[in-house]
This record gives sequence, structure tokens and C-alpha cells, in this order.
Amino acid sequence: MAIPNEFINEVKARNDITDVIGGYVNLKRNGRTSKGLCPFHSEKTPSFTVFGDTSSFYCFGCQAGGDVIGFIRRIENLDYVEAVKFLANRAGMQMVEENKNDGLSKMRLKIREQNREAGRFFYRALYSPEGGQALDYFHSRGLSDETIRHFGLGWSPDSWDALTRHLANLGYRQEEILAADLGYKSRNGGVIDRFRNRVMFPIIDLQGSVIGFGGRNFTEDARGGKYVNTSDTLIYKKTNNLFAMNFAKNSKSNELILCEGYMDVIALHQAGFTNAVAALGTAVTPQQAQLMAKYTDKVVLSQDGDEAGQKSISRSIPIMKDAGLSVRVLEIRGAKDPDEFIKKYGPERFKNLLDGCANDIEYSIMRIKNKYNIATDDGRLHYLQEVCGFLSGLSPLEREVYAVRVADGLKIEKSVVLSQAETQARRKKYEEKRREFRDMAQSTAGIGDKVNPERSRNLKGAIAEDALLCLLFSHQDMIAQAAAAIKPGEFVTDFSRRVYGQFVKLAQDGQEVTVSLLAQQFSESETAEIVRIINSGETKGTAEFGRLIDVIKEESSRTKPQDAAHLSPEELLEQMKKLKQKKS
Ligand code: UTP
Ligand code: MN
Repeated sequence: MAIPNEFINEVKARNDITDVIGGYVNLKRNGRTSKGLCPFHSEKTPSFTVFGDTSSFYCFGCQAGGDVIGFIRRIENLDYVEAVKFLANRAGMQMVEENKNDGLSKMRLKIREQNREAGRFFYRALYSPEGGQALDYFHSRGLSDETIRHFGLGWSPDSWDALTRHLANLGYRQEEILAADLGYKSRNGGVIDRFRNRVMFPIIDLQGSVIGFGGRNFTEDARGGKYVNTSDTLIYKKTNNLFAMNFAKNSKSNELILCEGYMDVIALHQAGFTNAVAALGTAVTPQQAQLMAKYTDKVVLSQDGDEAGQKSISRSIPIMKDAGLSVRVLEIRGAKDPDEFIKKYGPERFKNLLDGCANDIEYSIMRIKNKYNIATDDGRLHYLQEVCGFLSGLSPLEREVYAVRVADGLKIEKSVVLSQAETQARRKKYEEKRREFRDMAQSTAGIGDKVNPERSRNLKGAIAEDALLCLLFSHQDMIAQAAAAIKPGEFVTDFSRRVYGQFVKLAQDGQEVTVSLLAQQFSESETAEIVRIINSGETKGTAEFGRLIDVIKEESSRTKPQDAAHLSPEELLEQMKKLKQKKS
């Protein structure tokens, strides 16, 4: 471990876990505990919990967990040292000695350099004689040379190894080219270019460095798919980046336009809408929403008009709202996407569209309404049912406002709509509570537990072990007393035994037991389980202490009959008696 523990403790003390995570997840605070939608898996009701008291987080849905450093590692895709650095920076601290031999940091630098080189290479190729067809393509789609330069667009030559050879000539080694995902291993073992004969869209981070590419097929030959994209590398994570955010962040508009494709964004920028970005995939991710929320609180969704685009809108809305963004939805008529719309009708019409577009609630109600024929009683009934389900998920104030509109549209009493919506809201709340309870019950019972597979077979012992560990974590002065009363070897499950062993060892070394120190001894999923355990109790009084130890001892002697060779003659006799009794 290169970084001294004192420094890590200082970094943690200056980075309150609730504050840090609050920058990524919209948290609802309840005392020292906060909850939100888990950024590591997709969910509709919050199972992601941040515990202020133990400076840790745990998701009851996907079992992710750890301390603030673990959170940053995962969400920012960093290694341990970099995550500490990141947090030190955040708190305005100087990093102690920087570890110059850090292999990963070096590799990251190499990947960055190669991406910059590749960007230049593709741009040069586009304007070389061989690139004529690709350049014609961009021009035919209405892009000016100025726009091409601005976005650094390019062309990857029609060759197996044009770029990889170029990079090798610059001194980059095979594994570095592979790590940048600019090449990949061919079947016969050589490295070949990832992008061949494609028009290239560089993806640029907020600091202005190229971190990856999208390559679009522009010829008749459709082999290899329409787009080839850089897969995740040490410096690029698709789900964390937005195309053109580097430009949009400087736009004067106080709103962002989120489109589907590279071409939409470029066409919009060229037409003066420099606040357009694209999500590099279909639905927006929580990380992308948080990124947008750093620069604005308003987003216009401008997806393609097809079914896939509409689906992605429905999935994106809750994610964006969870990031605190207010969302409006732009409905494009008469063109399949913003790019085509601008070309057909011009920027003014697009501006009109922008000014008039519906907010997300109006949009959702309209979508539901379009599904039914409300000229018929049956259609009206089903529409009412579904739309009340939707209203039930809104805040009471919003529910009030939109219930009026729905009621007016159906020419019925507002109170009918409202009471329907409220009934459904209550039912939802009840189901959520039940689900939460089931998740908790399942993780307590150790169902599907990979970290502690012995748990479900030794439930009574394991629960006592959890309770003891939880108690000791919050009353660390009692660890010495525990160490005198029960040895790790007397624990029932192997996992708890190891955790307890670490508690005792750290306490004997005069160290405070923290999630960070434990994380150095345990795997990521084991650390998550430790976090669950230390947060599992309403810190019970120390009165439990003696009883818990008794239960653990009793359970372990019951489940682990002593190896016969280690028994005294008296004990052996005792055991045999017991066995006889069982048989009879
Ligand atoms: P589109 O098919 O709408 O692409 O996909 P586009 O960029 O608007 O291209 P044109 O207008 O047909 O030239 C939207 C986005 O989805 C991703 C790309 O990021 C694309 O910009 N995509 C699409 C892929 O990654 N792979 C695909 O095969 C298709
Ligand atoms: Mn398009």
C-alpha cells in the first residue's frame, strides 16, 4: 500500500460520503441515512442506501457496497490510488508522494496519446486524395469544412493496419494499441485496425482530449454494422460520457438538447444549436444525467420519431428527473430525426418546435391517450385506468394539476380522477414497502449469498455473528473484551470468522476499524457484505454482548462436531452416547 493510512483517513474525513454520493445520486435524507436510485443497476424504487454513521453505502438490490473510495472507484472507473487522488483533489488536499511507477496511470497516458494521434491521423486521411469519397459523404450530408474541423471528423482508411502501423511507428506497443481499442487481435494473432473505411466521429472529454471514436459505415457495403464504437477502455466509459458535451457546456443556452445520434448533434451545432449532445447509446444513463445536471437543470429530449426513440424517451424521463432535471419532450413531425428536420425545414422551424414542446408529464399523458380510442366507453375506461396509474407516481401538487386536465379531456369530475390516482398511489407505496422488506429479509437469510455460502445453512449462528460484528463496529472499545471471550476459530461461518479476525487484529494494532481498512483485506463483494452487516442493526445496546457470544459458541459446537482425534476420552464417550441416543 503506497498511501499512508493517515492520509486516507484525512481524505475520508474531508469527503463526507453523503455529500460525495449526493453529487451523483439524488438522495433523500432521513436522519443520518439517505436513499436513492442505485447508479450501479437500473431500478425504479430506491434500494441504494448511504449510511452517514458508518461512512458507507450499500445497495439492497444489487449488493454493491463499500466506502466513499470504493464508490468513486466504481462510478468514475478509477483504480484505488486514483480514487484517493480524486477525493484528495475534491477536498483541495495535496496528494502525498505520487507513485510514479503506477502502471495503470502510465497506460492511461498512453491511451490518451494514441487517441490524440488517431484523431489527427483520421482527419488527415479525410483530406488526403484517398479520403475523397468520405469527404463527399460528409458534404452530401450538409456538413461544411468548418464543421468538420470543429468536430475533428475524419476517415479511417480502407486498410487492415494503416493506423496500427502508424502507431507502431510512433513507438506504441501492441498491448498499448489493444488497450486503446484502436486495434484488436485478429484470428491469426496479429493486431488489426478497429476502424476500417468508416467516417469517424471523435468523442472528446470535458478537458478537450479525444477519448474514443464512433465510426460510421458510409458505403453500400454494410459489413460490420452501421456503427463501430470504441468499447470501454481505461479512459473511456460509454455510459459516463456525452457526445459534444465539451462544446455544449460552453453554450449560452440554459438548456441542453439530448439527441440520439452523432449526426443530429453535428447538424444542430452547425445550425447554431450548440447546446445539443448525444448519449452514445439509446437510453440515457444516471451518470450521463448527473453530468448534464452539473451544467443545467433543463433538458429537451429530442429522440428519433420511431418506436425505439419513443421507448428510449419513456426510459430516460425518470432517470433525468431523478438527477433533478426538468424535462421537455420535442416531438418531431415530418422528419425522422432532428438532422433531417433541420435540413428539410430550417433552423427557425426547429426553434419553434423547441419553444413549443411539451413537458414530460404532458408528453406522457398524450402518449397514453394515443393508445386508446376515447370515443368509446371501453377506450375511455382503459385510458382512465392507465392514466391514473401514471398520475399516482407524481407529486400531490402535480397530480392535482394534471388530474384537472385529464378530467376536462374526458368531461368527468376531477374528484373521480383524483381519488383513482390516490388509491393507486397508496397501493404503490405499500408494494414498495413490501419489496423493501423482502429484500432485507432475503439478504438477512443469506439467500443466494455467494460471499458467505455457509450462511443460509447456519442462519442462527450467522445472524448472531452479524449482530456481534455490528455491535463491535460501533463499540470498538469492546473488541478487546470480545477477543478474550471468543476466538475467531469459534465462529460458525468462515466469512464472519475472517472479518472478526481482522477486527481483532486491527484493534490489537491500535487501529480504528474502518471500512477502508477492511476493504484492503477483502474483495469488493466481501466488503459490500461487511458494509451490510455493520449497518444491519439499530445499534443495539451492549447488553446483547454476552448472549451473542453464547449463541455463536453454542451454534459452532453444534454444527462442527469436534474431530474425533482431538477429543479427550471423556468427550469421545460423551459423543458416542449422543449418537446412540439419536439412533434409538
Ligand atoms: P442512428 O441510426 O439514428 O444514427 O443511431 P445517426 O447518427 O443519426 O446516423 P444517420 O443519420 O443514419 O447517419 C443513433 C445513434 O445510435 C448509435 C450511434 O451513436 C448513433 O449516432 N448507434 C446506432 C450505434 O452505436 N450502432 C448502430 O448500429 C446504430
Ligand atoms: Mn440520423
